[in-house]
Order: sequence, then C-alpha cells, then structure tokens
Amino acid sequence: MADRKDIVEAAARICAGEVVAFPTETVYGLGANALDGRAVAKIFALKSRPAFNPLIVHVHTLAQAERYATLNARTHILAECFWPGSLTLVLPKKEQGAISSLATAGLDSVAIRIPANETALHLLAETGLPICAPSANRSGRISPTSAEHVRNEFKEQCPFLIDGGACVVGLESTVLDLTKEVPVLLRPGAVTQAMLEQVLRTTIVAAQKEGEGIVAPGMLASHYAPLLPMRLNADTVQDNEALLAFGKDILTGAAHTLNLSQSGNLQEAAANLFRYMRLLDNPAYACIAVMPVPNEGIGVAINDRLLRAACR
Ligand code: TXA
Ligand code: MG
Repeated sequence: MADRKDIVEAAARICAGEVVAFPTETVYGLGANALDGRAVAKIFALKSRPAFNPLIVHVHTLAQAERYATLNARTHILAECFWPGSLTLVLPKKEQGAISSLATAGLDSVAIRIPANETALHLLAETGLPICAPSANRSGRISPTSAEHVRNEFKEQCPFLIDGGACVVGLESTVLDLTKEVPVLLRPGAVTQAMLEQVLRTTIVAAQKEGEGIVAPGMLASHYAPLLPMRLNADTVQDNEALLAFGKDILTGAAHTLNLSQSGNLQEAAANLFRYMRLLDNPAYACIAVMPVPNEGIGVAINDRLLRAACR
C-alpha cells in the first residue's frame, strides 16, 4: 500500500475541491469529490474529456452507494460476489443524492463501483466522500497502470499523485448497465460476461458497437490509442516494426519485441498490456504488430482494448 501520509494529504486535497491521481486495482484514476461540480469540472479540463462522457463514482461501502443510487436485487447479488472489485454498475441515480450532474453527464443513471485496492479504499474512507474518477490519461489515450505513467502523461500539469505501485488487474473495470430489464455489458473487463450471467442466472447482452448507435459514450471506437498505428492479428512481422507478442511460439525478426505472457496466461497479459503498449510506442518503429490473443475470459477485454487502440 502507498504511504499513509500521502493518502491523508490526497484526502485533504479532495475535500478542498482539488483533483488527485490515485491507484486502483484496475488502472490509476484522476479523482475528485463527486458532489462538487467545480471539482469535477477540473477532471474534464485536465483530461480534455468531452462533457458527454460520464464518470465512474467510487465509494467504499454498499451503504454509501445506496445514498446515490437505487440498488435493486441484482445489484445486491453482484455486490456480494464482486465488490470490492473491478465491476462498475450503472444504476438509477437518486436525485437527492446530489452527485454532480457533470459527473453523470446529465444522465439519470450513475456508474458506481467499490475498488479492490487498499490505497483507494483508505482514500475513500479518509474523505468520507464519493470520488468520481476516470482513468488518469488524456482522453482517448492509453490508460495508466503505474504512477510513472501518470507523471509522463500530465508532466508539469500532473496533480498530486499517490504512488501505489503497479495495478494488479491492468484493464479498466467491467461496466454493466442494470437500469434495463435485460442487463447490458457496456465494457468488458476482468469480471467476464460468463461470470456475470452465472451469478445473475440470466442472459446479458453485449452493448451495440459504434455505428449502431452509441450506448455508452466510452464506447467511442477510437480509444486507448498509442501514437503508432497498430496492426492486429499479425502472423508476420517486419524488421522495422515493434511486436506485441503472446505465448511461447512467437514471431521473430521484429525491431523490438515484448511478450504479454510467455506462458499464455491471459491475466498476466492483461496486467502487462497498457505498459507494453506504452513501451513499444516509439516513433523509431513503423507500427506495433500484435499477435492474436485468445478471445476467452479476460481475453475478450484485451481484444476490446486492442481493437479500439487500432482504430483511427
Ligand atoms: O477501472 C475503472 O473503471 C477506472 C478506475 C479509475 O476506476 N475508471 C475508468 O473510468 O475506466 P473511465 O472514465 O475511463 O471509464 C468510465 C466508463 C466510460 O466508458 C463511461 O462512458 C462509462 O464508464 N459510464 C460512466 N457513467 C455511465 C453511465 N451513467 N451510463 C453509461 N456508461 C457510463
Ligand atoms: Mg478511460
């Protein structure tokens, strides 16, 4: 866990209406008091995030979640199984809960999660506030999985930052919309569709892709993008290309190769994905060639991020 002193300082800054960067188990977030519209506006400005893209509100207990959202039976079942953890639930927003309408982009729903990271939970407990936090990257760019990534992303504009080491999951939380009769998976993550369906004993639909109408603004096709072009499902590689490899039988001849997981472990691949994308994003190479990653378990979320990173 991070330095206790840093957590106390970050909490004081959040209470004073500032933005701070902090670790979660998924990615680093840029947090502000979700009840304070002026503080929330600072996040949008720092990230250059379009105001129509709502933020996730982080809380540290289910009771706190209940102040801001209407929890139904499904919420309780999922919270029991997956909170604290990398699952975000989109729920009907309670108006009297006073979450800033900027945080929810004027929607009548609110996205909530309890993160599974000691530092994040201490920060939440110390402030006693709901903290809205998007990933701590400029809009459209690769999410940060270490404090160093956040510093590199914002340079002299970097807000107060709690260094909690590398994020263990490495991919943003699964986002599930529970406001409709049939739950809708808005963003795949470590908590998979199959895990959710098994616990809920119901079918979940995966959200429509862009072009069929945007369901969640964060589903904009181009996202998580490095500066270099990405070439997916590579079965050959050139000597002027960087290679993002996977598994034990990898392509040879690339200018620079990083292997997401030599043993073919998808959890390990997820934890390495954004760090390796950043390391390979060097103008010395023509592009980042990416070997196929199995589309199962958390591999679905890995492929989702790769597809959006390749889109431009
Ligand atoms: O793992 C995570 O979720 C990280 C850490 C910091 O918690 N946060 C994160 O936030 O990934 P962000 O802003 O990068 O992604 C939030 C996603 C976006 O796709 C947004 O559109 C969606 O959640 N979202 C937020 N509120 C929503 C709502 N009311 N309805 C539908 N989608 C919503
Ligand atoms: Mg993000």
